[in-house]
Amino acid sequence: MKSDSSVWHPNTQMSEWTTFPKIISAKGMWLYDSKGGKMLDGVASMWCNVWGHSKSELVSEIIKQTKIIQHTPLFNLTHPSAEKLSKKLLKLNPKMKSVFFSDNGSTAMEIAIKIALQYWHNVGENKKTNVATLENGYHGDTFGAMSVGYVPEFFSKFRSKLFSTIQFPVPRTISSGTPKKTSSKEYEEYCLSKIEDKLEKDNSIAAFVMESGAQMAGGVIIYPKNFQKKISQICRKNDVLFVLDEIATGFGRLGSMVEYQSQNSIPDIVSFGKMLTGGYQTFAATLTTKKINDSFLGQFSEFKHLFHGHTYTGNPTAAALSLKNIELYEKYHLIEKIQKTSTVFENRVNDISNLDMVGEIRHKGMVMGIELVQNKNSNKPLSSKTSINKLVFDEGRKHKIYFRTLGNIIMLVPPLAISQKDLNFLIDGTISTIKSISRKLR
Ligand SMILES: Cc1ncc(COP(=O)(O)O)c(C=O)c1O
Repeated sequence: MKSDSSVWHPNTQMSEWTTFPKIISAKGMWLYDSKGGKMLDGVASMWCNVWGHSKSELVSEIIKQTKIIQHTPLFNLTHPSAEKLSKKLLKLNPKMKSVFFSDNGSTAMEIAIKIALQYWHNVGENKKTNVATLENGYHGDTFGAMSVGYVPEFFSKFRSKLFSTIQFPVPRTISSGTPKKTSSKEYEEYCLSKIEDKLEKDNSIAAFVMESGAQMAGGVIIYPKNFQKKISQICRKNDVLFVLDEIATGFGRLGSMVEYQSQNSIPDIVSFGKMLTGGYQTFAATLTTKKINDSFLGQFSEFKHLFHGHTYTGNPTAAALSLKNIELYEKYHLIEKIQKTSTVFENRVNDISNLDMVGEIRHKGMVMGIELVQNKNSNKPLSSKTSINKLVFDEGRKHKIYFRTLGNIIMLVPPLAISQKDLNFLIDGTISTIKSISRKLR
């Protein structure tokens, strides 16, 4: 097969696709294609869409702001949208002091890592240069983010150019993750003791970087209760900065506006992205505490200021849009709504897990990961000649669902404001899709 596309699509074996469905409009939960078909957006357009598409208040805000200022930089200047948004973000994160804006999740994490490393330099601790992290984490596709969220299957080709990190195992329940004859509790304690031992002995560690609440791209690995809190305590005790990535899990995805608050683990640095603008424009923010912020102050000649900046840092349209988006969370009580809607996932787990091709299911808030296996007896991951993603996408489309899988894991990550009725439609469509795949592969 040969693709006739001049667009190089992300993370895609282009030879698998002759053409791509052309989306020409989108409204609410639905994407409409050029052939008259429609699909429910089952992945919130890569986990960022909050309200569904074409939400009138957000579209009006973009138009309104675009007429005022399209773009002015934050280099030597400021503007009302960035000012108001940073204040709003600090209200949501009262332990934080300052906000650095950027363009996407990867850059927000690059910035978090740079701030952490430069902090130790600024306070004269030049030996603290290493970064610790969890195995199986993901923080983006740029070089710093790949180093910290190193996933061998994705990034081994770049290994020689990535900086090395200290990785610790993460508690998980799937068979491959937990050594045989070890209970989940014992394994969790083992993971924590490895972290504690290393951080106590090694004073070269500048920061511990992890996703907040769950590893999303790692396959919806939800941390056990208090796991994150304990790591934050170990960090504090050993003078290691605690850096959280809430790009995929904050803003309600796991059921809380700010996930680290429900995990009782205050970070030194935290990044948000994806849902910040409601999923309409590319934007991200990295927040730090006063301690971190103050270490960057001094005489110019000391060169303590942050050596980082992007052309579009703090873009006024994206900032105004983010502010409006957060106002809508409050106006429509979105977090309470998510907590109610997510009970649908809870209630439908058995309907999905009864299928022979389904292994483990993991879910929290508005995300569910469904592992596809060859059959329940073997519990071996589903494999196919084409990518599983292509297989699931093609079958899903027949049932009017837009899927993007992670390997053999079907990700249900709908727009956060989805109704219970539409979520049931998504789950029904998922069940039908898995049944179709099962028939096809038989
Ligand atoms: C936890 C996490 N961090 C960072 C990123 C990178 O964000 P972006 O794709 O906007 O660069 C992602 C993207 O999926 C993510 O899930």
